Order: sequence, then structure tokens, then C-alpha cells
Amino acid sequence: MAITVRHFVSPLLSLSSKALRWKTTTATALKNCKASAAGKEKSRSKSKPKALVLEKRRTRSGVEVDLGLLRRYRDTNIPHLPVLLCEVLRAFQPLALRSFVDCTLGAASHSSAVIEEHEEMELYVGMDVDPVAHQLALPRIQNVVSSRGPKLKAYTQLANFKDIKCILDAIAIEDDHLVISSGVEGIFIDLGVSSMQVDCSERGFSVLNNGPLDMRMGPQASLSAADILNSWPEDEIGRILRDYGEESNWVHLQKQIVGARANRPFHCTKQLVKLIQKSTSLTRGRQGWIKTATRVFQALRIAVNNELENLEDALYSCFNCLAPGGRLAVISFHSLEDRIVKQTFLNLVNCGGRQNPDQHEADNHLCKENISEVEVSEDGETWFKDRVHGKYGTILTKRPITPSLKEETFNPRCRSAKLRVLQKLSTPR
Ligand SMILES: C[S@@+](CC[C@H](N)C(=O)[O-])C[C@H]1O[C@@H](n2cnc3c(N)ncnc32)[C@H](O)[C@@H]1O
Repeated sequence: MAITVRHFVSPLLSLSSKALRWKTTTATALKNCKASAAGKEKSRSKSKPKALVLEKRRTRSGVEVDLGLLRRYRDTNIPHLPVLLCEVLRAFQPLALRSFVDCTLGAASHSSAVIEEHEEMELYVGMDVDPVAHQLALPRIQNVVSSRGPKLKAYTQLANFKDIKCILDAIAIEDDHLVISSGVEGIFIDLGVSSMQVDCSERGFSVLNNGPLDMRMGPQASLSAADILNSWPEDEIGRILRDYGEESNWVHLQKQIVGARANRPFHCTKQLVKLIQKSTSLTRGRQGWIKTATRVFQALRIAVNNELENLEDALYSCFNCLAPGGRLAVISFHSLEDRIVKQTFLNLVNCGGRQNPDQHEADNHLCKENISEVEVSEDGETWFKDRVHGKYGTILTKRPITPSLKEETFNPRCRSAKLRVLQKLSTPR
């Protein structure tokens, strides 16, 4: 049976153990809600040593990393390992996961593991904004799904996760999926760029390998990093370096970029890296310029892909799509993302969604009061430690869970990962 998804240009793939089919569909404009900028988190512990403060703000995972599991779900063709895999499986383990959405397919490692772990699954939806990742994930999903009976229906979609609601609505209408009529039981987001994207110099994400200044994750992004560097006003360039890169030297760099582009427009990453090397104080050495370059690249990537607005919109939509009792798990890789996840989770569990601007003051007060309502878990899932209970849900991770030292040793790229999980209440308190 063919599937029609209204509102999308991108092809929808429906996979089941019986059938695999594509259908390209018509496009209409999708609503792109304006997101408010995430508020700056107060630094309350300025005087404490940095390492101590970092350890306190997070909970290093106490889950024993299963290297066999990691090896099993890695993609052997590419140097990619799923991050916090055991913790993600644990987060969804207690649920009867009849429906599950992976918003960031990547190489489909997390997806494959979750599907295999939940035999009760009847509906799986995976999406990625990157056509290369989407193509890579297809055979892997097909492989795990083909070993299951016709009970499990699987769909993959080349799409931005901010459009999750439209995608699920379209699937529900087309295939008459009663299983998602009251929402999906599990949603997972693994943010950031994948190893495949970073390691492919043609994509322009790598500081160390020369490539075009592109950085678009998917074809929907209209601007490339070169477009921003060559055409944006000076103060806008400064703003993204400061706000998205958290680069302290942003004023100097903004001036250098604007001066350099007047002589020769930017077209490759090497040009930008050379400018950063020259602008970074010699005393800071290689680590100094690499760190600055990483922050500048992060700023450009976030701006090109509108990452922060998309994330906030997506979190509200995901909560909206969750079934009562369903869980949303998010892995973030830098403090800007994590701040948005943390703040939006608080809004969601306390206010059920975005705050009405008129009520902002009163609700903010209410939210802050509820935040202090933290309880130590008394049921079986003691690995979650502290929780935050709100009117509409519970944050199961008051502090984010970070990889164990063993996982960090095995996969150094996971070291900045943070996992936060929330559960929607069956009925508001
Ligand atoms: C860290 S990788 C995910 C890896 C994946 N969990 C796995 O097991 O292989 C992040 C993926 O998210 C995708 N992505 C980033 N932003 C997205 C968005 N707004 N919508 C959909 N996919 C997105 C990227 O293209 C990338 O493939």
C-alpha cells in the first residue's frame, strides 16, 4: 500500500518485513515557529575548582558499559560508535514500547538496538535531515525489521525533526495506525554531527581536513558557511561567534573575517583555519587555535542549520506527540544544546508546553517553585538518581547522565555527551 505524506517534498520510505516502497510527495510550507533564545544559566560556583563543579553538575553513568553491545551495533564500514547506548536502552527498557521514533537516525545504531530489544514494537519511525545518513541507515533498519513478523511497520523519512508532528500525523492518516492515535511511547534525539559527517571533508565540518565551507546537514538549509562569512553584516558575524561559539575573542575575529573577505571571499575551510591561526595568540599554541577553530566552526554550523531554534521547537513537538507515560530521551554534545534541553524539559513538566508570554512572570515563579521539588527515586530505576516532578511530567535526570570513564576510553568522541530523559504523566497532577 502506498503512503501519501502531505506537506513534504522529501520521499517517505515505508519498510515492513513484507514491503519496501518509496513515495515522493507534494510540498506545502511548514510552520516554523519562532523560538525564544535560551536564557543564560547562572554560574553559582565560580570560586570552586572547575573539575569539581563539572562533576557535581552531572551524573557520570554508573551503568556498566557493554563493549560487546557497542561492537555489535557499530557500523563496521565507518568509524562510528553509538554514544551512551546502554543508558539509552535502559531509559526505554521499562516501557512496553509499541511505538518508537528516532529523530536522528545517523547510522541507525541506536535504532537497531532499540528495535531488537523491544519485540512488542509495532511501529518504528526514523528520520534524519541528511540524505547521506538516511541512505546509510536504510539497509540497517531493513535488516533488523526483516527478521520480524508483519506486526512491525517501519518508516524512514528524510526530514527535520522539528516536523515530527506532521510526519506522525501523515503516517497515522495514511496507514490508519491506531497505535499512534494517542501518541508514541518513545522518542529519541541524538544531537550533533555524526562521525560520518565530520570525517567527510567535503561536508566542511572538519577543522583539520580542508574542504568547501559548506556545513549544511541537509538540502533544506539555504545558506552555507561560506555564504554567512562572505555576506552577513559584521555585527551578525560577531553575534554568532559570541552566542553560538561562546568565543571570548569574537570582536577581534569578526574584524579579521570582514577584513579578509574584502580581499578574497571565503570558499574553503583551510582559509578560515589559517585566519584563526594568525588571530590566535602564539602563546596559546596548537591547542589554542584548535579550540578557537572548533568554537568558530560550531558557531557557523549552528547558524547554517538553525540548530538551536529547531531543537527547542522539536522538543515541544516531541512532548506533544508523546503518549501518556511515554518517554523522551535526548543526548546533547555542547552546553548551548544542553541548556535548551534542560530549560525546555522544565517548561514541559511544569507548564505542559511553551509559556504564554502574558503569563510568563507568574508561570516562571511557579516553575521555579516546582524545580525544588526533587525526590530521590524510590522505585526500581535507581540509576536515574534525582528527579524533578512537575504537573505534566517527570524529569528522570535532574542532572544529565554522562558517559562512564570506560566508555570515554573506548570512544573519546563521546566525552561531551549528556543524556536527559523525561516521562510524560498519564494524567496531569
Ligand atoms: C550523532 S548523529 C546520530 C547517530 C545515531 N544515533 C546512530 O545511532 O548512528 C546525529 C544525526 O542527527 C542528524 N540531525 C541533526 N540535526 C537534525 C535535525 N534537525 N533533524 C533531523 N536530523 C538531524 C544528523 O544529520 C546526524 O545524522
